[in-house]
Amino acid sequence: MTEAILLVGGKGTRLRPLTVHTPKPMVPAAGVPFLTHQLARARAAGVEHIVLATSYLAEVFEPHFGDGSSLGLHIEYVTEEEPLGTGGAIRNVASRLRSAPDDPVLIFNGDILTGLDIPALISTHRSSGADVSLHLTRVTDPRAYGLVPTDSSGRVQAFLEKPQTPEEIVTDQINAGAYVFRRSVIDAIPVGRPVSVERETFPELLASGAHLQGMVDSTYWLDLGTPGAFVRGSADLVLGRAPSPAVPGRCGDRLVLPSATVASDAKLTGGTVVGHGATVGEGARISGSTILDGAVIAPGAVITDSLIGARAHVGARSILTGVVVGDGASVGPDNELREGVRIWCDAQIPPAALRFSSDQ
Ligand code: GTP
Repeated sequence: MTEAILLVGGKGTRLRPLTVHTPKPMVPAAGVPFLTHQLARARAAGVEHIVLATSYLAEVFEPHFGDGSSLGLHIEYVTEEEPLGTGGAIRNVASRLRSAPDDPVLIFNGDILTGLDIPALISTHRSSGADVSLHLTRVTDPRAYGLVPTDSSGRVQAFLEKPQTPEEIVTDQINAGAYVFRRSVIDAIPVGRPVSVERETFPELLASGAHLQGMVDSTYWLDLGTPGAFVRGSADLVLGRAPSPAVPGRCGDRLVLPSATVASDAKLTGGTVVGHGATVGEGARISGSTILDGAVIAPGAVITDSLIGARAHVGARSILTGVVVGDGASVGPDNELREGVRIWCDAQIPPAALRFSSDQ
């Protein structure tokens, strides 16, 4: 039985202010902490033992997931005193692994939503005899990612982190954040200092002649590192476009958790989720958005592709498009907020304070 390591210790800076009080993997997507979807998918692929490598806000994981038995898993937690980076985090949990030196160990970044065929990645690893196998996906604009060109047999030729010039963009295949490591390769990562698996371990393995195998799997894939992507991923889970056994309810246009209150004439579409204890007032229109627990959406508000934090308030008739409202923040009535605005936790926007149009 293959075991897995989940990397969940990053600070999630690109997702602030959502990650001020909550580590990125614990921000709810489609009604449950995002990590639940990854754990459920790993379980469905036959994984039983998972080690969570925690660092930032490490204390919140165990009270929520416990020993993992509610998900049919055995979960262990290992916390870094100082963040050790992706490679250091993997090495730091090695003592908890049960695999023999040649056994495969799955490793997942904690912020990727994907329909990856996990058993296929393991069987590619076994049949190719690789030291490390990587899930690769194709993207149209690879500049924000690590490029991984491969030869005709899928063997990795190079690692090119965040290419900028056209000459550097030699492939559209990127590192998709899921790996299989031969267990002995984990044990060889240096101990006790930060190591980046992407920038240090992989290039060094390649230079030393190790066999790194890429598997291109072009099913659903999204890096939930930014607010726009997070909201998209949550909506895709609700709509059933992104596969997860952990969505708490039937997939469809909307997901309203049982203790939420939604006015009968409010319109919820595009994979909108309304969290526990949240309230949506009369005539509100919400599309493709995530409303977290206890948030209040006043009558007539129009919210599109936005994330409204826990206990936040959005005032009557306010129009929000592509916006993040932090936990406990309050947007007064008659505001208009657009693309990219991040309202910090507990901030207060007065009534009719911000407009993008000249009408009132
Ligand atoms: P940004 O700060 O927005 O870049 O996000 P991040 O901190 O999550 O970094 P990144 O997206 O590069 O991290 C990829 C994965 O590795 C995520 O699942 C992180 O939780 C995890 N990760 C990154 N750094 C560390 C670390 O030092 N320790 C542990 N345990 N996990 C880490």
